[in-house]
Amino acid sequence: MYTSKIAGLGAYVPENIVTNDDLSKMMDTNDAWIQERTGIKERRHIKKGDGNSTAKMGVKAAKIALERAGLTPKDIDLIVFATLSPDYYFPGCGVQVQEMLDMRTIPALDVRNQCSGFVYAISTADQFIKTGMYKNVLVIGSENHSGGLDMTTRSRNVSVIFGDGAGAAVLTKAANDEGGILSTHLHSEGEHAMELSLEGPSTERWVPEIIAENPQENIPYYPYMNGQFVFKNAVVRFAEVINEGLEANGLTAKDINMLIPHQANLRISQFVQKQFRLSDDQVYNNIQKYGNTTAASIPIALTEAWEEGKINKGDLVVLAAFGSGFTWGSAIIRW
Ligand code: ACO
Repeated sequence: MYTSKIAGLGAYVPENIVTNDDLSKMMDTNDAWIQERTGIKERRHIKKGDGNSTAKMGVKAAKIALERAGLTPKDIDLIVFATLSPDYYFPGCGVQVQEMLDMRTIPALDVRNQCSGFVYAISTADQFIKTGMYKNVLVIGSENHSGGLDMTTRSRNVSVIFGDGAGAAVLTKAANDEGGILSTHLHSEGEHAMELSLEGPSTERWVPEIIAENPQENIPYYPYMNGQFVFKNAVVRFAEVINEGLEANGLTAKDINMLIPHQANLRISQFVQKQFRLSDDQVYNNIQKYGNTTAASIPIALTEAWEEGKINKGDLVVLAAFGSGFTWGSAIIRW
């Protein structure tokens, strides 16, 4: 029997730092409100002409992950790319990575599960490895949020939260006794799809229709978030899916060495930390520096935690995410 393990991790964020004070020059907000409600101090935004895009940032993170795994692009059998902000409506970012990294004509799959995207992507990669179909899978989470945010007061509850960046992991086939991904757990509840969504342009609402609706009043082409409703559901689902993963492996919260929650909001992470009675060094947070980078947030946080020596061989690492869809999931990993 095989399992899959994470053989290499990488992250990339654009150089351009946007502080809360910078945002307060564009909209009616302030550093104290943003820090108190979200924990965010600053985030990165792509700057026009800096050579970044969702796919290009993904490639930068992937190169680091590949090097750390001791592999080359030619060794990869499948690309799984998670994003809600692809460079194009179609095709997806996965094929762009295949071309940019000069890979073989391997399959490239895009995952559209927003903040849970990386957990869904890891789970997909894990299944392909465990069935024996592929040996090495490149998993990327990358977002260019700044290109699609409404930087005016009317969307301030959304626009202060999100940032740009990318993270990547190389998953590789391993023997069962080497540790690796023990299990993954995925869920969705489409009933709440529109509570955190970007309606248009889409095949349901194409551009002329949006313009006809008067964009000054109606802004379906910017993200909408029912913040309090999302918050309330997030704290419940995070706890459920972490418990589900622990129970499936005969473990309890006492076994967790490191929890990497999707960096949605520092208050959500702190709430989950309290529920599981984890200490500060058992939960990794970096939303303070990057904001919420959606599909990129877990791989960026996982990479940083590993770089800082906070994840060691034998540790039980738990990844957990909740986001638009609603979708949520967890991955239980023995490092
Ligand atoms: N600056 C200043 N004031 C603001 C801002 C801002 N950026 N945004 C909202 N406000 C004001 C509101 O206008 C409101 O003012 P009012 O009382 O005069 O009407 C007041 O602050 C409170 O607004 P709420 O929206 O009720 O604020 P809340 O305490 O709920 O915090 C927040 C908003 C931070 C968005 C919170 O609801 C939250 O974190 N929700 C979860 C969000 C989340 O995790 N999203 C990511 C999910 S992941 C994904 O899939 C993309």
